[in-house]
Amino acid sequence: MTIPAELIRQVAAARRVTVLTGAGVSAESGVPTFRDAQTGLWAKFKPEELATPRAFRRNPRLVWDWYDWRRKRVADAQPNPAHHALAEMEKLFPQFRLITQNVDGLHQRAGSRNVIELHGNITRTKCFDEGTVISIWPDTGDVPPKCPNCGGLLRPDVVWFEEPMPEAEMEQAMQASTHCDVFFSIGTSTVVYPAASLPFEALRNGATVVEINPQPTPFTSEAHHVLTGPAGIVLPQLLAILKNNRKNQRLRKTSFI
Ligand code: OAD
Repeated sequence: MTIPAELIRQVAAARRVTVLTGAGVSAESGVPTFRDAQTGLWAKFKPEELATPRAFRRNPRLVWDWYDWRRKRVADAQPNPAHHALAEMEKLFPQFRLITQNVDGLHQRAGSRNVIELHGNITRTKCFDEGTVISIWPDTGDVPPKCPNCGGLLRPDVVWFEEPMPEAEMEQAMQASTHCDVFFSIGTSTVVYPAASLPFEALRNGATVVEINPQPTPFTSEAHHVLTGPAGIVLPQLLAILKNNRKNQRLRKTSFI
C-alpha cells in the first residue's frame, strides 16, 4: 500500500494526535467484530437479547454466559501488529490519545498507556444494582454471581445499548477529538453514536482526519485520507515510515554540527 507523502508530512509535523479505534483493530487478533457480514457477532446474535439492561433482567444467565464466552476469547487473544504499532506511535508525539470502543483491553496489553475506554471493559465486573466495580466474589455456584455487598446480580462492566455513556470518558474523548492536529479513525464502522460523531468533530475543528479500514464507512467520503486495508498491515507500515523520517531528521541535524 502506498501511503501518500502529504499524509506522512502532516503526521510527522503533528504534536497532538488522537486515535479512535473499533472492533476492526482486534479482528486480526481473532476477536470477532460486530457488523462484518459473515463473521460479525451481530450476524449471529441479537443485540437486544444480549446487550441491553432489559435483556439482562429477562435472562441474566444467558447474558452472563455470553459475556463469559467472549471474555474467554479475549483472554486467549494476543495483541496484533496494529495494537503494537499504536503503542509505539504513542511514544513519537508530545500528546497522543487513544479512544477505543473496544472492551477487550488489547491496547493496554500491547503497551498503550493513554487509553480512553468509551464502552467499558469486558474483563471488569460490576454490580447491576449499585454499579460498583467488584473484583472478588464468593463462589456460590450462582450464575451470574452475586454482589458480595448487596446480593444484587453481577454483570460485565461494559456499556449496553440503551445505557448512558460514561461521562468522564465521553468528555475526555470529545476534548481529545476537538483539540488535535491529526485524528485517525481505525477499524470502526462509524455507525454507533456518540463514538461515531468523534471523527466528524475532529474534522469540524480543523484536524487532518485519516480513516484506516478495508471497507468504506459513512465517514469515508469525509476523511482527508483513506488507507484501505487491514490495520495490522497499514499501521506498522506507517510507523516504520515515521520512525525512518525521525532517524533521517536526527542524522541531518548531527551532520550540521
Ligand atoms: P463494527 O463491527 O461495527 O465495525 C468493524 C469495522 O472494522 C468495519 O468497518 C470493518 O470493515 C472494519 N474491519 C474489519 N477488519 C478490519 C481490519 N483488519 N483492520 C481494520 N478494520 C477492519 O465495530 P465497531 O465500529 O467497533 O458497542 O462497533 C461499534 C460498537 O458497536 C461496539 O463498540 C459495540 C457494538 O455494538 C457496544 O457494545 C456498546
